[in-house]
Amino acid sequence: MKDSESSMNAAPLPDEWRPVCRLDEIADNGALVVAVEPPIAVYRVGDAVFATADTCTHATFSLADGYVDEDCTVECELHGAIFCLKTGKVLRGPASVDLATYPVKVEKNVVYVNIAPCVNGDPY
Ligand code: FES
Repeated sequence: MKDSESSMNAAPLPDEWRPVCRLDEIADNGALVVAVEPPIAVYRVGDAVFATADTCTHATFSLADGYVDEDCTVECELHGAIFCLKTGKVLRGPASVDLATYPVKVEKNVVYVNIAPCVNGDPY
């Protein structure tokens, strides 16, 4: 069997939506850490919520301790790398590896993160 055939027959990953906090627990232009392995940072910019791997890909610093900007970016507090919260892409070094991102939804003021699929990047 070819690799492409085996992947087509693979069972889809289960959804693992987890309630992580209330929306009003995240300060506007702020973030908090979800204690899963690997840790996930949840950010709020106005009414928009994003989730990425919490660990900076440069030198393992928590991005939830960084600076969240209204242009939907986070700047790592340690050495200043900037990541896009929507895509996880590195926008400024010294980091060179993108962040994993995760689906997020808000229902009745509760923030849920789907920790099963990471949209891009390697969560480890
Ligand atoms: S640890 Fe984040 S930029 Fe260095």
